[in-house]
Amino acid sequence: MSDTQEAVKHNSSAGFSRLLVIWGITLVLVAVGLGATLYLIEKSKQSVVPTAPPPLPIAANPSDIPPPPQEVNLFLLNTTALTLVPVKTERRLHAELTKRLSQIVTALIQETPPNFRNTIPRGTVLNEAYIDSQQTAYLDFSSHLTDGHIGGTTAELLTITAILKTVFDAFPDEIEQVQILVDGEEVKTLVGHLNLSQPLHLFE
Ligand SMILES: *[C@@H]1O[C@H](CO)[C@@H](O)[C@H](O)[C@H]1NC(C)=O
Ligand SMILES: *[C@@H]1O[C@H](CO)[C@@H](O)[C@H](O)[C@H]1NC(C)=O
Repeated sequence: MSDTQEAVKHNSSAGFSRLLVIWGITLVLVAVGLGATLYLIEKSKQSVVPTAPPPLPIAANPSDIPPPPQEVNLFLLNTTALTLVPVKTERRLHAELTKRLSQIVTALIQETPPNFRNTIPRGTVLNEAYIDSQQTAYLDFSSHLTDGHIGGTTAELLTITAILKTVFDAFPDEIEQVQILVDGEEVKTLVGHLNLSQPLHLFE
């Protein structure tokens, strides 16, 4: 074999293996592209086709499940008749007694449907609510309850009665009496007429 023939043969075999390499790379790229496409199609199918909802945890914490709405009577003032009337509202009430009390008293503070007056002074906040072993409910209001009150014997009586009626209506078996607190302290009176230094029952 001459040097020229050797060079030619070498060249052609080098050309052939280069071709193989190019084909190999092309095949790999095609395979990768195909794989990626199939993966994307599969993924888009997953996001389009609705799958069964995940099963509910068997030992779910009952407080995690939203409770069905319950009817709650909030005692508001009928401005025509000037009497407190139970106004029915629906609330999803907390299972825990103290939190439920807090929810209902807060609802009483906030609710003002047309044709009714709320007897709780605007801006009042329920700071805390708790119930002791004697079934006394302690309701700690912000000072708006006293500072923001319009005053007068009738108005004072209406405010306190609205709170008591709403609480006793919602908790007939759980709460016997209510102690009103303002900013964490017992108060002698709201605006001077009612004695609030002791837990209250309904004045009949
Ligand atoms: C308020 O009381 C009056 C008189 O009893 C009654 O006619 C009216 O329907 C009451 N208003 C509401 C909103 O219940
Ligand atoms: C409020 O009631 C308590 C307990 O009954 C009593 O000791 C206190 O003197 C009363 N306060 C007023 C101002 O009547």
